[in-house]
Amino acid sequence: MTIIHVAVLGYGTVGQGVVESIHSHQKELQRLLGAEIVVDAILVKDPLKVRDIPPGIVWTTNFDDILELGHIDVVLEAIVGCEPAFSYLKKAIQHGCHVVTANKVMFAHHGNELQQLADENEVHVGYEASVAGGIPIIRSLSELLRVNQVHRLEGILNGTSNYILTEMRENGHSFEEVLADAQKKGYAEADPTADVEGDDAFYKLMILSDLLYGEQPNWTEVQREGISKVDREQMELAEEFGYRFRHVASIEPSSRGLQGKVMPIVVPNQHPFYHVDGVDNAVNVEASLVGSLMFQGPGAGRLPTASAMVEDLVQVLRPSLQRKGSKTIQLDEVEGGATKLLKQWLLFVPQNPSLPTPFITSGKLIKHKSGQKWKAILFLGDDKTIYEWKTRLPMVRLYEIRGAKEWKELNSDQPKVPCLNSLAF
Ligand SMILES: NC(=O)c1ccc[n+]([C@@H]2O[C@H](COP(=O)([O-])OP(=O)(O)OC[C@H]3O[C@@H](n4cnc5c(N)ncnc54)[C@H](OP(=O)(O)O)[C@@H]3O)[C@@H](O)[C@H]2O)c1
Repeated sequence: MTIIHVAVLGYGTVGQGVVESIHSHQKELQRLLGAEIVVDAILVKDPLKVRDIPPGIVWTTNFDDILELGHIDVVLEAIVGCEPAFSYLKKAIQHGCHVVTANKVMFAHHGNELQQLADENEVHVGYEASVAGGIPIIRSLSELLRVNQVHRLEGILNGTSNYILTEMRENGHSFEEVLADAQKKGYAEADPTADVEGDDAFYKLMILSDLLYGEQPNWTEVQREGISKVDREQMELAEEFGYRFRHVASIEPSSRGLQGKVMPIVVPNQHPFYHVDGVDNAVNVEASLVGSLMFQGPGAGRLPTASAMVEDLVQVLRPSLQRKGSKTIQLDEVEGGATKLLKQWLLFVPQNPSLPTPFITSGKLIKHKSGQKWKAILFLGDDKTIYEWKTRLPMVRLYEIRGAKEWKELNSDQPKVPCLNSLAF
């Protein structure tokens, strides 16, 4: 039987899962590919670490050793950060290897370059595992929605943030308590910044943007905010209005270009993310023909991530299954101008008489509730006004409410307070 030779870069959580899955699913792989898949070599960083590597696989700390084997067909990469991952994959492609990666930081920076190089060298790149772990979102978007235009994509793309928000709500713990517990259980890194401050979700969003629209928004214009400023009382007040906090990355085309955001928002019961709890990821797309589609599942972990990489392994080896690159949509054909649209917001103003009273110059106040630390206000306003406040009034917390009914339905019995010039109501 033909043999397909693979090398695995990185032998941590994901790398070990990949080697194990190739061995445990050899029969299925042989049936699909008509060939035996053999892991020949593993690349690691620390030569002194004790490792349990299956017999017959050589390990090295020098990537050139792998290329010098001369017969590697596919390189599966699961190391951390842009470099040396990018350089290794470039070299692998130049040596005629297909490559598969789980590395979102590297792929958000260099995905297009790798794809182009792969085209030039007539090999293929798989990156399913870099976004939403085990959910086959890349394949679904690139192969199953080729004719549809995606008007908007929203995702819970970081399981750690979603787990922390869920635990805070369900068990009444503070952000710091849940984070410490998540670190103990191994759900959060020792340095949790990338997860809780939104960087991890941002990189995944940029990869999805490339896939859907053939380009990324200007990184400096993507609003990026994590969950570390969400507190228990804000959650309780939001719940009293019927909303739950979610950390959501979203991208949509508008006449002003691609609009990307990564931030905590609140969602009502009818929003598809309301019930997505724990470490799960979810992606919701609004597409021109099919309407709204929701994907949900494990966004990380050894076997879910390995599953995505092994499915990619099959994909890169079977050209007839290959996707044909991303589609590009004409941004100026898309309806847009979102800045002037009135959106629904949940504001938290500190109950601190020594702070200056914020002024509202446009929009509509719908209703409010008071807690000990915060006054929570439902408000209708446009993006521009809201972001002016964000800059001028850092003490006010502002969260967009997505997917709520129109407030005229919701509050038909409530008098609306027209544009106030102060929140001192
Ligand atoms: N963990 C997940 O659930 C998950 C999900 C989706 C995507 N990812 C992505 O998958 C990648 C791997 O994640 P992981 O959780 O498996 O990380 P990990 O457990 O920290 O393992 C990283 C592995 O990469 C090796 N490595 C790091 N730098 C290297 C270098 N310069 N040269 C050679 N080897 C190097 C390490 O070698 P040593 O063993 O010698 O330290 C280790 O074996 C990351 O890019 C991550 O973002 C992870």
